[in-house]
Amino acid sequence: MTETVVAVDGPAGSGKSSVSKAAAKRLDFAFLDTGAAYRALAWHVLESGANPEQATEVISSLGGFDYSIGTDPDGYAVHVSGTDVTESIREPRVSAAVSAVARVPEVRAHLTALFRSIIRDSDKAGIIVEGRDITTVVAPDATARILLTASEEARMSRRSAELATESASDVAIALQKRDRADSRVVDFMTAADGVVTVDSTNLNFDETVDAVLDVIRTSHET
Ligand code: DC
Repeated sequence: MTETVVAVDGPAGSGKSSVSKAAAKRLDFAFLDTGAAYRALAWHVLESGANPEQATEVISSLGGFDYSIGTDPDGYAVHVSGTDVTESIREPRVSAAVSAVARVPEVRAHLTALFRSIIRDSDKAGIIVEGRDITTVVAPDATARILLTASEEARMSRRSAELATESASDVAIALQKRDRADSRVVDFMTAADGVVTVDSTNLNFDETVDAVLDVIRTSHET
């Protein structure tokens, strides 16, 4: 049974994955990247030849979605039906399809149940879970609830530095498109009641990790 659950939400490029991972390492907590599950399903939909824009086809592919993800922040692998998709779920074709898959209510219900079982079964003292609806839907009772934000400019320049093979303007356009599509499904830009905002626009990576660790510590004291 996991004692401490830390929920982290935020837009693409806010640094929530790398920051959450680093904070989990510091605390010896488990780490769950929920976006990876939505990406793995989008990959599975594309591989099976289904159309990600067609909700009925997406729902049909949920039946054959055999998914597993590690929760070790030092190196977690994502598998679909035994195939290691850790790298392929980051391909631009998957990023372009994932919003359509994630807006299907049956998909959200299925994955939310899966996330809750992973949180419950973790064998660490705590787990940091990051995504878009963790503070509000997946774990609204989490010990600490954080919204990690950064200005659009900062998020874009971080993303283009990560993906050195794509041109900066392609990254910016794809990111804006995905944020727009995703925010129609979940409002991940406004902090819900009781959620602490950490704005990383003017913080470097280590400062952001420290800010997140501070929120976790403070939540334990209250
Ligand atoms: O964090 P990411 O970019 O890897 O997330 C991939 C997609 O999954 C993103 O476009 C929105 C969706 N997502 C979601 O709808 N809810 C979550 N809890 C996590 C991700």
